[in-house]
Amino acid sequence: MRGTGLTRAMSWGVGPRVMRRMPPEWGERPFTQLKLEPCTEVIGAEVLGIDLSGPLDDTTRDEIRRALLEWKVLFFRDQHLTSAQQVAFARRFGDLEHHPFLRTGDSAEVVRFEKGEDLDKPGSVGTENGWHSDVTWRTEPAMGSILRAVEVPERGGDTLWADMGCAYDNLPEDLRARIDDMRAVHSFVHVFGYAMSPERKAEMLRQYPPVEHPVVRTHPETGRKTLFVNAFFTERIVGLDDDESEVLVDRLCQQAMHPEWQVRLRWEPGTVAFWDNRSTQHYASSDYYPRRRVMERVAIKGDRPF
Ligand code: SIN
Repeated sequence: MRGTGLTRAMSWGVGPRVMRRMPPEWGERPFTQLKLEPCTEVIGAEVLGIDLSGPLDDTTRDEIRRALLEWKVLFFRDQHLTSAQQVAFARRFGDLEHHPFLRTGDSAEVVRFEKGEDLDKPGSVGTENGWHSDVTWRTEPAMGSILRAVEVPERGGDTLWADMGCAYDNLPEDLRARIDDMRAVHSFVHVFGYAMSPERKAEMLRQYPPVEHPVVRTHPETGRKTLFVNAFFTERIVGLDDDESEVLVDRLCQQAMHPEWQVRLRWEPGTVAFWDNRSTQHYASSDYYPRRRVMERVAIKGDRPF
């Protein structure tokens, strides 16, 4: 029988949380080229003293990457980049993806989210308000994404990120043991396929068939165990029947929703956010109608989760 009130809350874990920012062996190393202002104990830091519009020397690039691993999402204020400058900055961290389903901006690498104004126009509705990692329907999902505010509403339209390493650490021990070797199927179909003709969906499924990933991935650079199941793209757990799988996927997706390992960004003109897509999920609050919100995103290619 399900508990109620405090009993139910206790089974979900009230009280202090395990708040580890990194694995214990990671250690502290000073930054020489940038100043960081952490936003929370575990996730999110504002980076000061950097101009992203020009060339980035290797030392600064390496420090940004290290800061990204530690804080999982970095915020840069007052940058006012062009689309081309955003792409040039992103290329310093790897090759860029082309998104096959989303509208692009000036170049094929840039995804443009232009929302608000006209709720009846398909595509104008902000539908990024579900917890997810980007493109986990790919065999090799993006390593990171860089999002630039082009036009921000006066109020609303914040983005939130969750640290999925903390999300894993705070699962009950028996559940961690149960899921450690499980695999899950991810697919684009429920998010991008619903409005496609059957012919196009079949063609896109040929190009991007459902893919299996571990439920708990090991971060390839930090070694940290990270919960890798999300509400947008994870379809089912391999080897479980439909009901069991749905209950487990729901339970694991809830794990992104704890404020203790979230950070929330209030966008301003010129703000840029850079997140590690392997260790986080994000959610764009769709609360700004009828105001406009225009963002541009580029994604850096990643590797196969293990
Ligand atoms: C996204 O889901 O990648 C977009 C996030 C946002 O618009 O804040």
